[in-house]
Amino acid sequence: MILITGATGTTGREVVAELRRLGARDVRALVRDPARADFIREAGFEAVAGDFEKPETLGPALEGVERALLLTPPTPDTVTHQREFILAAAAAGVRHVVKLSAVGADADAPEGFGKWHGQSENLLKSSGLKWTILRPNFFMQNLLGQAGQIASTGSIFQPVGDARASFIDARDIAAVAARTLTEDGHEGQTYVLTGPEALSYHEVAAKLSEATGRSINYVPISPEQFRAGALGAGLPEWLVSALERLNEIFAAGHAAGVTDAVRRVGQTEPTPFDQFARDHAAAFKGE
Ligand SMILES: NC(=O)c1ccc[n+]([C@@H]2O[C@H](COP(=O)([O-])OP(=O)(O)OC[C@H]3O[C@@H](n4cnc5c(N)ncnc54)[C@H](OP(=O)(O)O)[C@@H]3O)[C@@H](O)[C@H]2O)c1
Repeated sequence: MILITGATGTTGREVVAELRRLGARDVRALVRDPARADFIREAGFEAVAGDFEKPETLGPALEGVERALLLTPPTPDTVTHQREFILAAAAAGVRHVVKLSAVGADADAPEGFGKWHGQSENLLKSSGLKWTILRPNFFMQNLLGQAGQIASTGSIFQPVGDARASFIDARDIAAVAARTLTEDGHEGQTYVLTGPEALSYHEVAAKLSEATGRSINYVPISPEQFRAGALGAGLPEWLVSALERLNEIFAAGHAAGVTDAVRRVGQTEPTPFDQFARDHAAAFKGE
């Protein structure tokens, strides 16, 4: 039995689709709200109620599970969520946990997603469980969160200057996750997952213009403008700080590396940004 967590999210939905495509059997998804799990049942998989905030729900969900995907939501409780799951997995006799981490994960990094994932990676590695770590770069899908604003203003506002990042499509992360959950040979491996090319936001804007037939440009902003805008839009302080840390990594060029892990492990060609832009052109046009 394979257990998927985060199954209703951006990556998890694609993992469900990919496992179905690979013909995987005996798949269970942990969901907070079983009413939102129709697509899981339609894939021929089982949905079980569970919540990282209620650790007592994790043990029953893990009963009979051999391999699990540990995918937690982006919150400052990441380490607590991951610790509870790792403890429950070890207690349930799970053999192998595949953890969705993040590029640059480092327990010694300043407070933020990189630190929380680095600390969680260390917990998993010292748990006695077999492990695989997936460290994806910035998701292309993050841009969908700004699609309304991009459509209405014709602009992308980011505080990263001319720096480049090798954005990855969540579908490609899912391809790798599904392979590591269904094949042997990935235990003890850390895979850094990237898209096929590193792009600046100038290039992203040009590709979105091409896909939408509209003029979209990139407006570099200062870190101070980013903070004021994010707080003004209602984002909580912890998230603004965590995003600032990610912006620093991006602006310093540390997210520009390109790896072949999607092709090698996921056995698929990494999705170019042009394709992503075409697939989501309607959203970037505000339709
Ligand atoms: N975005 C990026 O650029 C990026 C880059 C590298 C790494 N990451 C990492 O990727 C992860 C997020 O992946 P994603 O964007 O695919 O996720 P997502 O779309 O934010 O979805 C989060 C998932 O977690 C579930 N969830 C939320 N709270 C829960 C709880 N208390 N108990 C159980 N499940 C809960 C959600 O279920 P509901 O439907 O019930 O809400 C949903 O399925 C984070 O760990 C983040 O640090 C992101």
